[in-house]
Amino acid sequence: MAFLAFEGLDGSGKSTLIKNLKLHLEKASIDYISTREPGGTELGEELRKIILKDQKPPPCAKTELLLYEAIRAQHVEQKIKPLLSEGKWVISDRFTASSIAFQAGGRNIAEKDIVWLNNFATGDLKPNLTILLDISYEESQKRMTNTNRDEKDRIEKESAQFHRAVRKSYLEQAENNPQWLVLNACESEQNLTDKLISHLKFKGFLE
Ligand code: TMP
Repeated sequence: MAFLAFEGLDGSGKSTLIKNLKLHLEKASIDYISTREPGGTELGEELRKIILKDQKPPPCAKTELLLYEAIRAQHVEQKIKPLLSEGKWVISDRFTASSIAFQAGGRNIAEKDIVWLNNFATGDLKPNLTILLDISYEESQKRMTNTNRDEKDRIEKESAQFHRAVRKSYLEQAENNPQWLVLNACESEQNLTDKLISHLKFKGFLE
């Protein structure tokens, strides 16, 4: 059993790395569920649409944070905890570190309040490993224009300054949590996958 959270700016390549990890787990006959935040449950996916919709006026920063936390509470209670207690691996595309990066880094809400809300929403559940795909704002933008993506959502449309602050917060979180795995998102897909698998072996999650 392992609970892994993937983090990074939009366009950092989380989905591709998750896809490659899933292939590896399938080959090793490991039972896993891949999920995401915001989302992961029926209620969470409905709230995701509301949170990411480009609306005027936009939700204020506190409302936005509380919506992400509401989604998280449901996600942990309804899905993540039961799956972990069945011994399954849970792979989540974003978790608590996203709220610190985007709502403290990007929106300037006090980090201590977010830490408290994260703990409240998750009942103190922490991932066994957080994987940060680090990428510059410029590179992430290049990738998002080069790939066939849907129209940008409300958060993706935020300023360069916002996204640079998000990245800075991620890197600060990584510095304060030396057990995180930080990968340079500009490395090749193969290198990133190899590094992740080796790390999971080194940590004893994989044989
Ligand atoms: P996604 O596009 O990676 O699925 O995530 C949707 C957006 O929501 C993304 O721009 C990051 C943002 N987000 C937050 O601002 N706070 C959070 O707590 C989470 C989970 C995501």
